[in-house]
Amino acid sequence: MSESQPALTQQELKQQAAVYAVDTFIHSDMRVGLGSGSTAELFIEEVGRRSQAGILTGLVTVSSSEKSAELARSFGLEVKELADIEALDITVDGADEIETATFSLTKGRGGALLREKLVAAASTLEVIIADESKLVSILGEKMPIPVEVTPFGWTHTANRLRALGGEPALRMTGGQPYLTDGENYVLDCRFPPVTDAKDLAARIKGLTGVVEHGLFIGIAGRVVIAGKTGVYELEKGA
Ligand code: 5RP
Repeated sequence: MSESQPALTQQELKQQAAVYAVDTFIHSDMRVGLGSGSTAELFIEEVGRRSQAGILTGLVTVSSSEKSAELARSFGLEVKELADIEALDITVDGADEIETATFSLTKGRGGALLREKLVAAASTLEVIIADESKLVSILGEKMPIPVEVTPFGWTHTANRLRALGGEPALRMTGGQPYLTDGENYVLDCRFPPVTDAKDLAARIKGLTGVVEHGLFIGIAGRVVIAGKTGVYELEKGA
C-alpha cells in the first residue's frame, strides 16, 4: 500500500479476509459450516451474495449460532441442523486469539463456542479468518478464556476453575447473566499465559459443570490474516 493511501479500518481488513476465504476455499455444492462473530458474518454475507448471483450453487450450510443461521437464511442459503448432516467439507470462522506458531485458538467472545466446536469437529477443514490484531505469541496474552457452564451450581464450577489457577467472571448482559444458544452461562476466565494449552484444555473439560471451553487446540487447518501488508495465510510452526 502506498503511503498516501489511508490505512484500512479493522472492518475493511475483516472483509478482505472474508473475501479471500470465499475466493480460495468455497465452491459450488459444498457443505459449509458457518462460524459466528463479526468476521464470520462478513464471510456469510459474501457467500450469500455469490449464491444470490448464481456464482455459487448447491451449497448446504450448518450454522454455529442462531444469529449466523438467520443471516444465512436472509440470503436464501439452505441451513441444516448439524444432526441432519453426516459431515461438512469446510467451516470458516473467526477467532479471538490465534497463537501464530501452533494455530491454537481462543474463541467464544460471541458466546457460540460450543456450537462452533461441534461444527468444526464435523468439518474436514477449519479455516480461521481474522485481522492481525488477533495474533498472539501465547494464548491468554490478551483475552480471557470463555468457559460455558451449566447455570445450576455455577458458583461451584467457578470455584473449580479458580482451583486450576483461573479468575472466572460471570458474563453479564443487560444486568442478567448472558445465556448461550444452549441456555448456559459463560465464565470468562483469566489465566496466566497458557504455556501448555492442551493440558489446560483437558483439565477444564474434566471439571463437573463445564459444558465446553473456548480453547481450540489442533482444530484450525488454515489461518487467513488481513493486515497492513495485505491478506496472507499463516504458516504453521513459522
Ligand atoms: C464467537 C467467536 C468469534 O468467532 C470470535 O469472538 C471472533 O469474533 P469477531 O470476528 O467479531 O472478532 O468465537 O463465539
